[in-house]
Amino acid sequence: MMAPPPEGADFLHPGLAEPRTKEDWFAYVFYEPPPRPVLPPHSVYLAMNEGERRRLNRARSQYHSALVLAWTPAVQHFEAEIFELLDANEYAPPGARPGLLIDGPPTVGKSTLVKMIARKFERQLREDYPGRFSPDRLGSYVPVVYISLADQVTPKQISVAFARYLNTPTGGTKEDIDHHILTALKACGTQLVIFDDLHFLDCSHKEGRASNDHIKYLANHAPCTIVGTGVDLEDSPLLSEGGASGRTTQTSGRFSRQELGTFALDTEADALAWVAVIRSLEGALELYRHEPERLTRHQWKYLHERTGGSIAALHTLIRRSAVRAVTRGTEAVTREVMDSIVLSHAHERGYAKVLELKNRTAPKKTPRASRAAGKTGQAVTDG
Ligand SMILES: Nc1ncnc2c1ncn2[C@@H]1O[C@H](COP(=O)(O)OP(=O)(O)OP(=O)(O)O)[C@@H](O)[C@H]1O
Ligand SMILES: [Mg+2]
Repeated sequence: MMAPPPEGADFLHPGLAEPRTKEDWFAYVFYEPPPRPVLPPHSVYLAMNEGERRRLNRARSQYHSALVLAWTPAVQHFEAEIFELLDANEYAPPGARPGLLIDGPPTVGKSTLVKMIARKFERQLREDYPGRFSPDRLGSYVPVVYISLADQVTPKQISVAFARYLNTPTGGTKEDIDHHILTALKACGTQLVIFDDLHFLDCSHKEGRASNDHIKYLANHAPCTIVGTGVDLEDSPLLSEGGASGRTTQTSGRFSRQELGTFALDTEADALAWVAVIRSLEGALELYRHEPERLTRHQWKYLHERTGGSIAALHTLIRRSAVRAVTRGTEAVTREVMDSIVLSHAHERGYAKVLELKNRTAPKKTPRASRAAGKTGQAVTDG
């Protein structure tokens, strides 16, 4: 039988927002998603009174809403890259250390990936150097700084975002703020600085270039490794001066740029990577009638068509289908449930195009072929 919710649970805010301060970041590092509920036998579930069932289902929805994050091949690749960079940069001589830019279209999981990796890095440091995190330490130890840039960001806004994160003064000129944050970055032992959404350094704006110069200045003076993410970074003022000159920038000599894309199905290895992600998400479902590996084995191609290989769309689709399967009592993520979910406009439009293309290229069935398919009673599956 389900235990009643703990006292005060109504006041807890369960969700996570993008970290804006070191306290937000620490909360993310320690965050544990809602636990996996233990389902009683189905007969017990059916015999529950309304309140008991509602509470169990709410716990299931909370759990499904977080679902699991997958350590995809891309996450593993960037984990190795970033950890290696951090090692190679730790005691490097003064000056800008080599950094990494992760460039990719929207919703491929760039922000999630850098946070997963940085969280792992910090959790390892907490385990290996507990003294550094001790409350007795003079000043806090902040190994990771995560800055999510605002649109049309100015150099001063970057400095203020840093200052808010590190809790240093935000008043005075940009130079004053910079002096405080550079001092704090050293005192806090910061090793990794993440700039998320670097495409907000818009090349067409004068401020964009100034912000680029500012990031270069910070990179030169802070003894940290910088990892950035963004969309179309090749055209960003960080890497190219743009305009007619097409000249590369000073920062382009310091950052490597690597791409992160959607999942493809071009090769067997691609397909296996996609199927593995589905398997890890599907394995986390807590439903009474969901046939194990149903999606992994039979719907992987449909899921790719539906989501365009976007991990964000896949995560949303499975998450929402799981919640719907509980509220509607179907207790399984079926093709029917997934078809009833409306994904983002971009993904629905992409799927409509796939369907249109399929319709156009599908061979017209001869009466004989239709009869043969009917005879064998083939299930409509993907693989
Ligand atoms: N490794 C992962 N495992 C499971 N789900 C993931 C993973 N990475 C991302 N997602 C899902 O995709 C959603 C969007 O990811 P994220 O915000 O990281 O994408 P993004 O590439 O940064 O997008 P944007 O360019 O719009 O900022 C996440 O909220 C999560 O639901
Ligand atoms: Mg992002």
